[in-house]
Amino acid sequence: MREIARTAGTPTFVYSRATLEGHFDRLQTAFAPIDALLCYSVKSCANLSVLRTLAARGAGMDVVSVGELQRALEAGIPADKCVYAGVGKRDDEIIAALEAGIGLLNVESEAEFENIARIANQLRTSVRCALRINPDVDPKTHRYTSTGKKETKFGVDLERARRFFQQWGHHEYAKLEGLHLHIGSPIYTVDPYVEALKKTCTLIEDLTSDGIEIRSIDLGGGFGADYESDQSPSAMDYADAILPLALPLKSRGIKFFLEPGRSIAANAGVLLLSVLYTKQSGEKRFAICDAGMNALLRPSHYGSFHFVWPVRPADALVPPTRSSALSMQGLVAQDIVGPLCESGDFLALDRALPPLARGDLLAVFTAGAYGMSMASRYNSSPLPAEVLVSGDRVALIRERETVEDLLAHERHVTALL
Ligand code: LLP
Repeated sequence: MREIARTAGTPTFVYSRATLEGHFDRLQTAFAPIDALLCYSVKSCANLSVLRTLAARGAGMDVVSVGELQRALEAGIPADKCVYAGVGKRDDEIIAALEAGIGLLNVESEAEFENIARIANQLRTSVRCALRINPDVDPKTHRYTSTGKKETKFGVDLERARRFFQQWGHHEYAKLEGLHLHIGSPIYTVDPYVEALKKTCTLIEDLTSDGIEIRSIDLGGGFGADYESDQSPSAMDYADAILPLALPLKSRGIKFFLEPGRSIAANAGVLLLSVLYTKQSGEKRFAICDAGMNALLRPSHYGSFHFVWPVRPADALVPPTRSSALSMQGLVAQDIVGPLCESGDFLALDRALPPLARGDLLAVFTAGAYGMSMASRYNSSPLPAEVLVSGDRVALIRERETVEDLLAHERHVTALL
């Protein structure tokens, strides 16, 4: 980490190829009995080199915009291994997906399906579609990322789903033949998946009696990652709960997709920061770093916990928990904050850490997913660099942005009207 900080600078996201591959392989093995195509959720960590790493293991991709589709194609993933979700697909995005030969379009509403059908008709291009259903299951996660309850904007509720298929199930070009679910993220118990799949099975029975054949089920993502020690079920735990319901469907010829993001990328990445200053304000101690919510939004946006520790061999790692005992020898409570002009710009509050000093390097753990992909340029902060470690090889996979990059789009002013 020191060498990386010396050569690439900070803030920098550092990913481990071995961990990305290890997480992918564990999911692949766990879900092998239903031969699920793992479509990595590009939104979790979208760097081309990360996508290429997973593609080499056989991953498909879950995309939600033409930008993500373009990334997947450029990383060499064939379009027919990509599934495309999202409540607000623009016409140009639908056209791009159809022209690329997308594997599956996940449809979120009647109005969207009508639009897809109209475009498919015009282009005389067939496209496989799956209806995203909303099973009204509580994934017991942050309300911003809970997507399987009726009151969210996602999918179509089960009552409408049956009518949806009756109306649209036999379209000539937009072939509605699958079901899609994504009930939330992260989901730390297996029960919501089981409940959602049970409701899906009932719907499939109803559809069968209506003469409609379901050919694919996309179970979405949402598997947890360990932000704290042993917080999440393992790939095998999720599979053990899901497979008993999925295997009979598989034996009826139904093809399975999964869309894991966080469970692959989160623990494959750390955010490397430098402490610029330390400061005492009243009772509070602050370590002010060279990035905060601009690089990793999760703590300030969701109140998420990320383990933080100095990159100093002398400081033995304590287990990553929210409340590391302050009484532990030598630790002091500190707020780890960024340089931005908001009190909400923090990465950790009241965290028990060894005393920090200017120039210290810090690692923010479990930052591989929804770190760089949610980073912003707020306060005109150039985006961090990204580095991939593959065994003893270390590669810069995204250059640090410069202030020049920030200004480039504003230099030329053109008259519009
Ligand atoms: N499929 C769909 C349709 C999704 O919307 C998502 C995530 C995934 C798959 C991947 O979920 P995962 O396996 O990564 O949990 N920004 C939030 C997470 C938002 C997730 C949005 N959708 C965070 O930082 O926790």
